[in-house]
Amino acid sequence: MAIKKLKPVIDTLSIPQGFEILPNPLAIFQKSTGELWANPAFEKEFGKDTLNSFKFKKPMGLIQDRPVHLSALSVIGRQEGFVIENSMGNKIPVELKVSRLAESNPDTYLILFEAVTDKIELQKQLIQNHIELQGAYQKLNQTQAALIQSAKLASLGELSSGIAHELNQPLQAIMGFSQELKYMEKLSPTGSEFLDDVIHASQKMAEIIKSLRSFAREAGDQVTDTSVQNAITEAGRIMRHTLLQSGVELEMNCPSELPLIQANPIQLEQVFVNLLSNAKDATASNPPGEARIVISATHNGETITVTIKDNGCGMSQEVQEKIFDPFFTTKSVGQGTGLGLSITYGILKKLGVQISVKSEVNVGTEFTLIFNTNETNQKGEIA
Ligand SMILES: Nc1ncnc2c1ncn2[C@@H]1O[C@H](COP(=O)(O)OP(=O)(O)O)[C@@H](O)[C@H]1O
Ligand SMILES: [Mg+2]
Repeated sequence: MAIKKLKPVIDTLSIPQGFEILPNPLAIFQKSTGELWANPAFEKEFGKDTLNSFKFKKPMGLIQDRPVHLSALSVIGRQEGFVIENSMGNKIPVELKVSRLAESNPDTYLILFEAVTDKIELQKQLIQNHIELQGAYQKLNQTQAALIQSAKLASLGELSSGIAHELNQPLQAIMGFSQELKYMEKLSPTGSEFLDDVIHASQKMAEIIKSLRSFAREAGDQVTDTSVQNAITEAGRIMRHTLLQSGVELEMNCPSELPLIQANPIQLEQVFVNLLSNAKDATASNPPGEARIVISATHNGETITVTIKDNGCGMSQEVQEKIFDPFFTTKSVGQGTGLGLSITYGILKKLGVQISVKSEVNVGTEFTLIFNTNETNQKGEIA
């Protein structure tokens, strides 16, 4: 398809002189003959050679562009989604504005071409910005959730520290006097039994107070070179008896050559004890001989990944969302304090360790901890 120059036919088409020098790319189309004339601005915009090999197409996505029939140039109004292909093979997106040249002449149409490359670029940019904004929004939400979690922990930490302190003194008195009473003579057997119950209950309370205190981070939290493997082994040792009693099999896959990390060894042990203890509780209703916990560590570049996996009761999505909340427990009174995981979360967060959980009801649960090794930290300092 070729386009002719407009200037020589201006008179024939009874177009006012000077019309062709308008700065916008435009063409006149005569429907009956299928002839097309363009002004100099058109050549300027789309290239001189474009007149000789005018290619006017409609992009079809992944399919090859479809040539546009010239009758499209006699459809009055605004039309989008065309490209003009110039002699270099470049495709320039355009929009058309078609109108009658004169109301009295239904055969001749005026077509204004508007290159919309900028518009399309702008659209692409807008979409890109939108995606980035969505990402930022998601990040903001996550940060907000983490902030709420730390704020909750901080205020509860203060509160628990106070309560723990206040309760501990009278409790020490109860325990002391009960122990003494136990050695006094003339205690009936029933009295002695009651006293045993009192002592047992006080010990339980002392344990709760101890965990409240460590929740409030009263326990020292100086960090030092720490071996993840030692903390896991030690936690396993502490839990061995309980696990054995409950008939839970514990498998440990831990390479001996793990790099050191920065942590407080006692707190790290506590993290693993908490996770093992929860895993054990989760398997309580497994058939005998079928309770199993696997704790594995792997070292990959500058991180150590530890997973604690059980084949216990698992958790619903709803429970998973709350497990790090202080005092959240699904266990019966006396069984759980709901502090284990919030303590764990607090300790790990301070060390910059990521903790995540995957769980399926009636299948099991896997906690994953990702530690930065000393090597990463040193690199961080240099940078
Ligand atoms: N391995 C697990 N399998 C199933 N549920 C778990 C597991 N670990 C934690 N949970 C859930 O998270 C809750 C909170 O745990 P935690 O903070 O340690 O408190 P507690 O053990 O005293 O209930 C538990 O009550 C339990 O519902
Ligand atoms: Mg627990």
